[in-house]
This record gives sequence, C-alpha cells and structure tokens, in this order.
Amino acid sequence: MYKQLVLSCIFSLYTSYGISQGTGACIQSVYPPLPQTAIRPGVSNATGYRIEDFGQGAYMVTEGAYQSLVLVSKTSIIVADAPPTIGNKLVAAIRSLTYLLISHVVYSQHHADHIGGTSLLGSPPVVTFISHRLTAGELAQVPGPHRRPARNVVFDKPNHDPGNIFIYAPVQKVLMLVDVVFPGWVPFAYLGESQNIPGYIKAHDQILAYDFNHYIGGHLDRSGIRSDVLTQKEYVNDLYKNCAAAIALSASPPNATNPISAETLIPPVIADNPGNSWAEFKIYLNTVAAYCANTINQKWLGRLGATDVFGFENAQAMIEALRIDYDVLGPFGVQP
Ligand SMILES: *[C@@H]1O[C@H](CO)[C@@H](O)[C@H](O)[C@H]1NC(C)=O
Ligand SMILES: *[C@@H]1O[C@H](CO)[C@@H](O)[C@H](O)[C@H]1NC(C)=O
Ligand SMILES: [Zn+2]
Repeated sequence: MYKQLVLSCIFSLYTSYGISQGTGACIQSVYPPLPQTAIRPGVSNATGYRIEDFGQGAYMVTEGAYQSLVLVSKTSIIVADAPPTIGNKLVAAIRSLTYLLISHVVYSQHHADHIGGTSLLGSPPVVTFISHRLTAGELAQVPGPHRRPARNVVFDKPNHDPGNIFIYAPVQKVLMLVDVVFPGWVPFAYLGESQNIPGYIKAHDQILAYDFNHYIGGHLDRSGIRSDVLTQKEYVNDLYKNCAAAIALSASPPNATNPISAETLIPPVIADNPGNSWAEFKIYLNTVAAYCANTINQKWLGRLGATDVFGFENAQAMIEALRIDYDVLGPFGVQP
C-alpha cells in the first residue's frame, strides 16, 4: 500500500504521515464561512456587471470574477484588459458611459483569462494594442483566437510574471497590477500563479511607491486601497517567515514539537517506495508546505478570505521559492 496525499486533505495529514497508515482520498468541498474582509459587492442582476467610478473618467468594470480598467478621455477610450468572462458586458458597460471610440487596449499581461476577450473591443488600425515586449512574445508564440496581437510594444521591465506591467493613471490615482494583490482575499493559488516569487514579493513595495487611491488587482469584484496592499504584504512576509521556519524544522531532529523532521519523515517513504526519489521529495515538500500552511491558517483565517482554500498552494510556491531562489535548503543544503 502506498500512502496517498490528497492536497485538499493535507492539513490533517501532515502530522500523521509516516505515523499512521494510508489515508484514502478525500476532497474538501465545504469551507468555513468567509471573514468580513472578503467583501463581495456583487453585480447588478439586470446587467450582469458593476461599474466602479473612480472619478475624472476612470472606471473599473467587473462581472464579479474579473476586472477591466476603462479610462475615458475627451477624445477616446483606453481599456486595460478584457477578460473573456466579462465578454460583451464590457462593451455594454463602456457604452453606458460614452459613445467615444476605443482607441487603445492595454494588456496587463498575456494570461488568456484576463485578455482573452480583447477581440471584442475592435481591431487595428482603429484600436492600438499595447503590451510589454515579453507579452507580445508570448502572444506570438501561442496566438489565441481572441487575443489580438500586440502592435505597440513599449515596456521592457520584468515583474513577477514575464510581461506583467503596472498601469497607472496619475490624475485619478488608479493603479492596476494584475495577479499580485487580491484585496480582502488570500492570493490565488501559487501566489497568483507567479513565475518569479522574489519579484512577486518585491512588487508589494513597488506598488506602495506609487501615489494611488485605487488598486485594480484583476480578480473578484472590488477594487482595493492602500491598506489592502499593506495587509497582503504582511501576509506574504508571514508566509515567507513561517515557511522558512518549517524548512529549518525539517532539518532539525524530531521531538514532541517537531513532527516534520526529515530524519523521521523520509525513511518510511523510502521503505514504501524503493528507489523512487520523486516520491521521497514530494512527500517531503508537501509535508513541509502543509506544516507552513497550517501555521499561517491559524493566524490569517479571519483576516483574509479563503486562507484555507489556497493556503497550501501558496505555501508550496513559497517553499519552492525559498529552496530554489533564496537558497534555504534545510536538510538538502551543503552537506558536511
Ligand atoms: C439579485 O439576485 C440575487 C440572487 O437571485 C438576489 O438574492 C438579490 O436579491 C437580487 N438583487 C436585486 C437587487 O434584485
Ligand atoms: C524540538 O526541536 C526544535 C527544533 O530543533 C527546538 O527548537 C525545540 O526547542 C525542541 N523542543 C523540545 C521540547 O525539545
Ligand atoms: Zn489572474
């Protein structure tokens, strides 16, 4: 019998792995209620969207799950992102504001779930599509049916994901940075699917260096403010500290308060799976991530929405980053 770790059940497993026998599968589908911070303003039942008005021609449009930024000038409209799930409701929302032409569409990044509806906003030469150079490269590599290729490529600086950009309207003090801060909520899985965790962590300070009153993170149905960014920065720092502590614990001898020592964790996995190094690593990594997620859960469950839903995936991403990017290798560090 092999011991199966099912991710959604891992919180209850990490203490018992290597101690108790096989666990079977279990899929958690009901979580405790969300805390007050996870405000859901929702959308109009009549239209299926909601417009947040930031003043001076700046608006956020959402269908409840994703977000677009709309900037109305005297002569035309600039739109940043067109999530496919907002679809034509984005055009309806824009037309409820103005009949000016859409002149520019800005891609926050290349992810199809954020820009996969841009073909609904028009075509060149009327519309100019703008993105980071790396986003243009991604789009050229995998041309989507609904993502217009980016024509004017003006950005070069990388962030947490290749091609992710800061979109800033200084007069209206609106800042858009997608997939980094999730106001009121824990970051989406794997720290917003980040491909560069050190860049992701740094992005919080980069955001705070801007003079903004409104933050558009791209997900769910409300915009954020400065305190949302500060809260998430605290969460991410806490995740870093607790996951680093979990790695240190895994390198320490076992005792009553250390259930994740590699010394006791790994031998039974090797015995169960002779020669299977991947199994050994997977159990080790998941156990350390689950231990970290559990400590974070206890602290953050009432402060950010769905801490328990993506807590494990976020801890997994942080554990990998600590090991690979920050050289915090615990029992797999330089050997004597
Ligand atoms: C919108 O629909 C939801 C779900 O059916 C309902 O609970 C809510 O009262 C409705 N809101 C309005 C303003 O009609
Ligand atoms: C258990 O081990 C950890 C890590 O080495 C150590 O910090 C802690 O003091 C130990 N606890 C006991 C009760 O010995
Ligand atoms: Zn996203």
